[in-house]
Amino acid sequence: MKNIAVLVSGGGTNLQAIINAQIDGIVKSGKITLVVSNNPSAYALTRAQNSGIKTVVLNKKELNKSFEDELIKTMEENNIDIIVLAGFMCILSEKFTSRFANRIINVHPSLIPSFCGKGFYGLHVHEAALQYGVKVTGATVHFVNEIPDGGKIIMQKAVNIFENDTPETLQKRVMEEAEWKILPLALEKVCNELK
Ligand code: GAR
Repeated sequence: MKNIAVLVSGGGTNLQAIINAQIDGIVKSGKITLVVSNNPSAYALTRAQNSGIKTVVLNKKELNKSFEDELIKTMEENNIDIIVLAGFMCILSEKFTSRFANRIINVHPSLIPSFCGKGFYGLHVHEAALQYGVKVTGATVHFVNEIPDGGKIIMQKAVNIFENDTPETLQKRVMEEAEWKILPLALEKVCNELK
């Protein structure tokens, strides 16, 4: 059984999807033992506490340059095997990503390599897709390396865009139809295949 840490910054609906998948037996080769937020007021922390999962807040603004050192220390102290970035709005440097190579996964709300990289996060991704006029978007789960959204792709799912979509309606559909489905499946695959 692998120890899973989930890193969050906001609402935590993807965290909730993994918690539910663990209850449903979809995630069965690992257990969420820790939730870390860079944002002290993230609702994701309440979701973790409601499920009896240990939480740690590492305030990036306060910790500044020592943020990643503290994050590494927290992962090691808690014997974390696999790290999930679930709406985690901080870019991690090579110092962190190389330490946990092939053990960090991220969910991104587009079909990479479209609408990804620096500056493409949250609603901005859906604004960009609508502005470009693509008819299909989706979500991607990938390994995390030093290049933002640049690691090996694990799983993707496409979602149709409708004429009257707003960034908000599109975000909701991408979450419901893609993110909340492929993130638990990809997590189970990675836990199961990790030696
Ligand atoms: C999700 O759509 C996630 O894919 C996106 O932020 C949202 C977080 O929602 N992540 C990124 O854009 C990362 N580049 P949540 O807190 O409800 O899971």
